[in-house]
Amino acid sequence: MSEFEVDIIYSDDPSHPHIAEMRELAASVFGYRDPDPYFMPGGAYFAGIYRHHDGQAPVCVSMGSMMKYGEGMLVTTMATHADYQRQGLGSRVLRALEGEAGNKVVTLEAWPEAVAFYEANGYSAELVDPDDEVVYMEKRLQP
Ligand SMILES: CC(C)(COP(=O)(O)OP(=O)(O)OC[C@H]1O[C@@H](n2cnc3c(N)ncnc32)[C@H](O)[C@@H]1OP(=O)(O)O)[C@@H](O)C(=O)NCCC(=O)NCCS
Repeated sequence: MSEFEVDIIYSDDPSHPHIAEMRELAASVFGYRDPDPYFMPGGAYFAGIYRHHDGQAPVCVSMGSMMKYGEGMLVTTMATHADYQRQGLGSRVLRALEGEAGNKVVTLEAWPEAVAFYEANGYSAELVDPDDEVVYMEKRLQP
C-alpha cells in the first residue's frame, strides 16, 4: 500500500469508515462541522487522500467533493491540509473526482487565492464576482 491512498465515498454511504477523518479536515480548513454541509442528496461524492502511518489510523490530508449541477457537475470543498500543500495531492483529488464525472462540464466557485490551483488543473475563469469575492471557473471534461 502506498503512503497516500485515494478513496472515493458516495453520499449515500454516510457510515463509510473514513468519513470522520474527512470531516476533521473540512472542519479545520473551512471552520464548520455542524450542520454537516457535505452530505447532500442527489449524487454527490467525495474524494479523500489518506495518509497511512504504520499502526495508526489513516489521516485525511486532502479532499474535495462533486455533485450534479444541472447538466454538468459542481466541485466544492477542495482542501489540502496546510502541512501537505504543493505536493500534488489536491490535483490528485480533482482528477479522481473528474474521473467519476464522465464527459461533462465541471463548474466551481473559486476563492481568489485558489484560482492558480484550478488553472493549473485546466479550469478557466469565466466570471469574477467582486461582491462575493469568488471567481466562477469551468472545464469541459474530455471522454
Ligand atoms: C487550493 C488547494 C486545495 C490546493 O491544494 P494542493 O494540494 O496544495 O495543490 P497541488 O499541490 O495539487 O497544486 C498543483 C498546482 O496548482 C498550483 N498551485 C497550488 N497552490 C497554489 C498557490 N497557493 N499559489 C499558486 N499556485 C498554486 C501550482 O501550479 C501547483 O503546482 P506546483 O506546486 O508544481 O507549482 C490548497 O491550497 C488549499 O486547501 N487551500 C485552502 C482552502 C482553499 O482555498 N480551497 C479552495 C476553495 S475554492
